[in-house]
Amino acid sequence: MQRKHFLATAAALALAAAAPAALAQAPGKLKVGFMLPATGTFAALGTAIDNGFRLYVTEQGGKIAGREVEFVRVDDESDPAKATDNVNKLIKRDNVDVIIGSVHSGVAMAMAKAAKESGTLLIVPNAGAAAVTGPMCAQNIFRSSFSNWQPGYAMGEVAAKKGHKRMVTITWKYAAGDEAVLGFKEGFEKNGGKVIKELNLPFPGVEFQALLTEIAALKPDAVFTFFAGGGAVKFVKDYSAAGLKKSIPLYGSGFLTDGTLDAQGADADGLLTTLHYADGMKSKRDADFRLAYAKTYKLQPDVYAVQGYDAAQMLAIGLNATKGNAKDTKGFAEALRKAKIDSPRGAFTLSRSHNPVQDIYLRKVVGKENVLEGVASKALADPGLGCRM
Ligand code: BEZ
Repeated sequence: MQRKHFLATAAALALAAAAPAALAQAPGKLKVGFMLPATGTFAALGTAIDNGFRLYVTEQGGKIAGREVEFVRVDDESDPAKATDNVNKLIKRDNVDVIIGSVHSGVAMAMAKAAKESGTLLIVPNAGAAAVTGPMCAQNIFRSSFSNWQPGYAMGEVAAKKGHKRMVTITWKYAAGDEAVLGFKEGFEKNGGKVIKELNLPFPGVEFQALLTEIAALKPDAVFTFFAGGGAVKFVKDYSAAGLKKSIPLYGSGFLTDGTLDAQGADADGLLTTLHYADGMKSKRDADFRLAYAKTYKLQPDVYAVQGYDAAQMLAIGLNATKGNAKDTKGFAEALRKAKIDSPRGAFTLSRSHNPVQDIYLRKVVGKENVLEGVASKALADPGLGCRM
């Protein structure tokens, strides 16, 4: 009897000793929490990010760092007021290994706060809020997209080089609009231009008429704008319908015409914008990506799809280095800081605050494409002001 008890105890002990090793080999499914808009003016942007991310995972056989990927998704409605509750659903209720989101800068700032407090990995696949890779920067927070400053700054330089002197800006009044305008002003005014008026309206408003009348009265040399998604479609159409397109050139950060050209039609023709992606990149990497995306979704990819795809690539680079351990944020960050990310946009690295250092392209709308005109700003790095890591 005693010997039987001894054998049972020994067997139990052996099992317990073997358990950590077995767990290390098979850490279970990797839970990815998408916090993206599925409704509202940015709904299509959320879908493209989701598509891009899943495409990369499918290309890896459904696994990242050997772990089968499972998705959980929350519709954040691009509403900052609901963002803390929404992100906590993913972190505390669903226990995700990594959060992917979001599109809206105000939502992303709430996500960064929650990620910083909980230590959960966060990869931002769009929102360009300066704070995320500035004062809120952290070892576990990364961005696969851009900072709002980057395309704005590049367009400021382009507009000045075109000889414009007096310009008006128009955007939504929130972090993304404010920071895009700040970047534009810096690039424009450094090079001899002057922003004579900054116009704005609350997000996600589309009542542009009074502001367009004001632009007509101000008679600037040109206008710079940040709008995206459904709001960008309406703005481009209203600008043209007001008769301004013929007399006052319109420039924008490239969100103005990315993923929107089918709806904007001829009203977008000829518009010049700056962004970290374009049609006609002429690289094999981009051609392969576009073919795979078109085959899978029967759609052409846009910048948001690329950012989603690259968020998944970044996750794979980090987790391959930590053998799938999402809690090892130190090892994850070390791997990404050294990495060159092989993006369809062109390879990019991350700054010390974890924002892409990347080429910003000048694009021109021709038909249904944002055709590459050239590089507006080579390897442009966001200043990452206020980041201490
Ligand atoms: C933002 O809120 O940061 C944003 C939204 C749409 C496109 C680009 C930036």
